[in-house]
Amino acid sequence: MSTEHNPVPKTYSVSLVTGERFECAENEKVLLAMERLHMAGVQIGCRGGGCGACRIAVLKGEYELLPMSKNHVSDEEAAQGFALACRVMPNSDLVIEAAPKTSN
Ligand code: FES
Repeated sequence: MSTEHNPVPKTYSVSLVTGERFECAENEKVLLAMERLHMAGVQIGCRGGGCGACRIAVLKGEYELLPMSKNHVSDEEAAQGFALACRVMPNSDLVIEAAPKTSN
């Protein structure tokens, strides 16, 4: 009979505080969805959680976090909603803000 796979992934809306908005599937990384749609709200780097270029603050919404470098987002920061956009997959509509790391 049928397998238990989700046939069509859900798609959520991701809004940047700058007013840009794009769609991101539940199984898609926010940064890659943004890049696919040629949006430029968040800086793009390694796309693999290592460089910190895509650091964001999630202001609203639920999301899944893939493993990422603690050099760029500490556990404490992650608990406050900071994340790397290339490591975030949405579980609801999201509101995000680019949050590049300050040098201090
Ligand atoms: S693009 Fe390098 S950490 Fe996300």
